Amino acid sequence: MEATWGNHKVSKLLASSFFLLGFGSNDLFQSRPKSEADVAVLYATLVSNYSAAITDLYGMGARKFGIISPGPVGCVPRVRLLNATGACNDGMNRLTMGLAAAFKSGLATTLSPTRLPGLTYSLADSFAGTRANFDNPQAVGFVNADSACCGSGRLGAEGECTRNATLCSDRDVYAFFDNVHPSQRAAELGAQALFVDSPIQITAPISFKELAHER
Ligand SMILES: *[C@@H]1O[C@H](CO)[C@@H](O)[C@H](O)[C@H]1NC(C)=O
Ligand SMILES: *[C@@H]1O[C@H](CO)[C@@H](O)[C@H](O)[C@H]1NC(C)=O
Ligand SMILES: *[C@@H]1O[C@H](CO)[C@@H](O)[C@H](O)[C@H]1NC(C)=O
Repeated sequence: MEATWGNHKVSKLLASSFFLLGFGSNDLFQSRPKSEADVAVLYATLVSNYSAAITDLYGMGARKFGIISPGPVGCVPRVRLLNATGACNDGMNRLTMGLAAAFKSGLATTLSPTRLPGLTYSLADSFAGTRANFDNPQAVGFVNADSACCGSGRLGAEGECTRNATLCSDRDVYAFFDNVHPSQRAAELGAQALFVDSPIQITAPISFKELAHER
């Protein structure tokens, strides 16, 4: 791009571009902190890692960030499977909420205007964004919010979504497509919530739509 348009034009383009970043869920799936001290170390390590990644992007010219904090990873079918009742894992959700909070305050420090002038960002609360899917699935059009549409075994979550898996007849009424990922419909609802803050406000301080159009 620089060879074609030159540095200046590319810098302007990057500075006006919207960068969408999502952090945390996979890091939490892989960690099993055993004490409060472990939790504190985990949060500090992850937050400093994410901040470093954003600072790297800033160094390359990015200025506008829509940042998505981790959602209720304790509610995905693969985790629910571990409980005989299929309930969300509250401990894992608490761990995730703690990371989201640490992330929020950490970013406020690392991404401060004095440190990185010209940077703007809005932060999305994935817990708020997906709460309706789990608290009142029917209201948002889901018949099933705890099982995978594609998979096998209990909650469709014991086997992966492979060629041999069972596929539900209507994926749009499932909140999950496979044992960890949202269905297309759930992703669409999530995108709407992020972009226009509808039906509830989940981004702060402004919606991703406003941020993307801000000059
Ligand atoms: C983040 O952590 C990973 C894994 O520990 C490491 O490989 C990577 O270099 C870190 N990234 C930054 C930007 O610190
Ligand atoms: C399973 O979920 C129920 C309801 O949330 C909870 O009371 C119970 O402690 C859970 N069991 C395990 C083994 O986590
Ligand atoms: C699918 O089923 C066939 C026949 O039972 C088996 O040979 C194959 O290994 C299975 N593939 C996967 C990905 O489970």
